[in-house]
Amino acid sequence: MKLSRRRLLAGFSSGLVASQLPSLSLAKSQDGFFDLIAAPSKQRLYLPDAPMSDLWTYNGSAPGPEIRAKKGERVQVRFTNKLEEPTSVHWHGVRIDNAMDGVSGLTQKPVEPGGSFVYDFVAPDAGTFWYHAHNKSWNQVARGLYGPLIVDENEPVFERSNDLTLVLDDWRLAGEGVLDVASLGSMMEWAHGGRLGNWLTVNGQSRPVTGLVRGQTYRLRLINAANARVFEIDPNRFGATLLGFDGQSFAEPARLDYAPLMLGPAQRVDLMVVAESDFIIEEVSGDTPYPIAGFSVSDAETTEAPGSAIKLHPNVLPEPDLAKARRPRLEMTGGAMGGMIDIIYKGRKLQGDDFRTARQAWAFNGVANLAEEPFFAARQGETIVIETVNRTAWVHAMHVHGHHFQILNRSGSVVDEAKPWRDTFLIGQDQTTEIAFVADNPGKWLFHCHMLEHAAAGMNTWFEVV
Ligand code: C2O
Ligand code: CU
Repeated sequence: MKLSRRRLLAGFSSGLVASQLPSLSLAKSQDGFFDLIAAPSKQRLYLPDAPMSDLWTYNGSAPGPEIRAKKGERVQVRFTNKLEEPTSVHWHGVRIDNAMDGVSGLTQKPVEPGGSFVYDFVAPDAGTFWYHAHNKSWNQVARGLYGPLIVDENEPVFERSNDLTLVLDDWRLAGEGVLDVASLGSMMEWAHGGRLGNWLTVNGQSRPVTGLVRGQTYRLRLINAANARVFEIDPNRFGATLLGFDGQSFAEPARLDYAPLMLGPAQRVDLMVVAESDFIIEEVSGDTPYPIAGFSVSDAETTEAPGSAIKLHPNVLPEPDLAKARRPRLEMTGGAMGGMIDIIYKGRKLQGDDFRTARQAWAFNGVANLAEEPFFAARQGETIVIETVNRTAWVHAMHVHGHHFQILNRSGSVVDEAKPWRDTFLIGQDQTTEIAFVADNPGKWLFHCHMLEHAAAGMNTWFEVV
């Protein structure tokens, strides 16, 4: 089935009916735990007359419920696995206690079918985070195992009614508009740009239109939950300013002085918009902008006094000490059109048919997937500057677990002088990027491509902080 851009656009402008995005918030049980259950469920992804898709979800919907906590608060999640395969839950972007990072095979044993696990951690930073499966993520996330995790400032900057979460996903639909399961695991995609969908949803809805009140200021938290798609968005087209990236607020709202903003897999951006007239957030990479979500603005029944100027509360993170940094270097190779490369996988050099049977296509410093030895070991508190060199023909979305970093240099492009904190960076073909952070969080942490097919096919490494 080919889903045309035109059809989407026509449907969008004809049906501009105000309907709030569904509220997804998860209530705590009486003993203070959030209960989260991964299980198969059915959901309609396509148009209202389309059949239901068979998904795997948290608490029965994709995205899963919004978990909200306050900065510095202890979060306890009682997780149960009702899937037919092992899984674990990763709290993406949270500078978390290593034992709670949810990485199957590195920080915990996967939770077996019928089993459970209690995630118990403190959320040190206020911001926009998300949780997702971290065992065979290419499969489990593609089927719907993800949800938002929002950590509020101690004095919230926005009223809850003006604080909206938008979880973006592109699904691969087939037939009458149901999730295409047969194409999962295509080796061709693993060695190319990953699994790209042909239908977008926001909070599981197609082309939602949300009602806003004229004159009021809103925070829009965009989360890219797609396996591999980079969304290109131009906030200036709808008058939005930026409040932060990847769960880390800026000191002040900022105007984007370049366009478009690239929102890679796993990345988040918080936008601020003053509702003046109807607007649409669009994906602008194609010839014609593609609508993501609409907003319909109407007058309030009562006139409230306009809120005072907003005051952001950035989290405080340790400043890298560049003069004393340890400087590991990561060379990314492989993939289609990357030429012949040597790949070591599980201690052995792959040859001939091995690539296909081992399903490996990429390497970091010549090694596919996790080696026995870490990429580097850091002393707790040490500054790390990683130089990443992308020698592949593809864009990647590199994610550091347990830490946020600043981008110092990026070949062929300018870097933001304000040095915003991030947990995932995009790197273009033949690009070299330097990131810096203080390795202050002890444990074993992944550093991997968040294009989930790339990670499965080799783009994974780990480092240790001792
Ligand atoms: Cu979003 Cu390794 O994670
Ligand atoms: Cu990649």
